[in-house]
Amino acid sequence: MKKSKGSSRLLANSSKKQSLSQSNSPEGESPRVAVAIMAAGKGTRLKSQLPKVLHEVGGKPLLEHVIRAAVRIAPASDVYAIIGHEAERVRAAMAHTGVTFVLQSEQRGTGHALIVARAALAGYDHVIVLSGDAPLITPETIGRLRNFHLEERSAMTLLSADLENPTGYGRVLRKSARSAEVQAIVEEKTATSAQRQIREINSGFYVFSTKELYGNIDKLSTANAHHEYYLTDMAEVLRRARRRVVAWKTANASEVLGGNTRAELADIDEQMRMAKCRELMAEGVTVFYPATCVFDADVKIAADTVIEPYVQLLGNTRIGTACRVRSYCVIRDSEIGDGVTVRPGCVMEDAKIGQGAVVGPFSHLRPGSEIGEGAHVGNFVETKKIKLGKGSKANHLTYLGDAEIGDGVNIGAGTITCNYDGVNKYKTVIEDGVFVGSDSTLVAPVRIGKGAYVGAASCITEDVPVDALAVGRARQIVKEGWAREKRLKK
Ligand code: UD1
Ligand code: CA
Repeated sequence: MKKSKGSSRLLANSSKKQSLSQSNSPEGESPRVAVAIMAAGKGTRLKSQLPKVLHEVGGKPLLEHVIRAAVRIAPASDVYAIIGHEAERVRAAMAHTGVTFVLQSEQRGTGHALIVARAALAGYDHVIVLSGDAPLITPETIGRLRNFHLEERSAMTLLSADLENPTGYGRVLRKSARSAEVQAIVEEKTATSAQRQIREINSGFYVFSTKELYGNIDKLSTANAHHEYYLTDMAEVLRRARRRVVAWKTANASEVLGGNTRAELADIDEQMRMAKCRELMAEGVTVFYPATCVFDADVKIAADTVIEPYVQLLGNTRIGTACRVRSYCVIRDSEIGDGVTVRPGCVMEDAKIGQGAVVGPFSHLRPGSEIGEGAHVGNFVETKKIKLGKGSKANHLTYLGDAEIGDGVNIGAGTITCNYDGVNKYKTVIEDGVFVGSDSTLVAPVRIGKGAYVGAASCITEDVPVDALAVGRARQIVKEGWAREKRLKK
């Protein structure tokens, strides 16, 4: 992680006494603060059909990370996502967040995004502006930036950082090295070679006094390399209007990284996942060879569980204590109880596994699979929408779909529930203590009564009563000497 020096003075100065919710209104009243997230761009550099802000890092779209940070700072009703390119797609993907959308139907630059949002934002005292493509930003940093802005009573406050490699970012031109005041932001494209030596970059996060922003925004012009309205030009516009423009430098330079290219997205993704990994390890989870594992942001694992190399835990997966997840498992949105062993090569989605169960190697648990306490599911077993009771076993080569299976049941190798007739799905019920012999096919709808036996290789098409034996196969024929005679004929 790149860290900057020299910002500690500002950091200490502004972080001393503030909490996230505190405000510093001179009149003692809370100022009205909105958050605007610029998310309308196409993301040309990604060369993608998918709009940039929907590209995923850490298992979630870029924009969703930024929205999550924003709603920690202001209620969702005061958060505005400015969308444009593929707006309907972005709106649909983010509808669940409850933020308000502002449409920038033509994308004429970051300054234009704020011009378009004027009607939505002008009623607030201040607006925090975030970039929808910079997902590592934390609510703490946004809160400090806002507090610095309120303390400084500036018209525009920008978040800056020192980057070892500032290429591609706008550079901050301060009045003097010591001053918080900013003269201008120069974009990489128009910077002189001396200016390109500056390592202090503009993060693309700002706080504006809305009165000053909208009182001066019409002075922006498109006389630049891209013929766009640059929001960054507001620094110079406001300074010329003799308004105060300041920068607050974060020591956490990695928080401001933006994902403009696939390579930058990969960097951000790695940072997020390693941070998540460190968080889990701090909570007592052992992760072997962390660089090979993928844990989504919302995954929860209890202490003393061991995760082996090359494991992906995705979505809302929850894992209890004292479990072991062996290599090459991909587990999504699943709930795993305490003391469970997941052997190598398992794939699970929307599955629930009871305490002490053993799954795998090579089991495929599809949505709606509920595996009971102490149950065993073995190699090349596929399950879908089933309940497998306490201590029941399906150890080899089996398909169990749409089935309710009781406690202490043994499902022999090669058993198949025939749940589908090409049009409808039907249910199989197997009561407690049943023994299903190997290679049986259970043609649903069918019920096998408590304690019953099914002979190996049976095709069961009718219900089996409690405690009965059902055998559904042709009788064996033996022709003595047949093979010898065949050979002799040759
Ligand atoms: C911008 C800044 C640059 C800064 C960098 C930090 C400008 C001109 N430059 O450059 O100084 O160092 O961010 O990451 O602002 N967007 C819209 N509408 C538009 C254009 C863009 O909503 O018309 C959105 C994009 O979707 C993106 C954000 O604004 O989320 C930033 O735009 P982008 O094109 O990525 O700007 P950068 O070139 O990264
Ligand atoms: Ca960007």
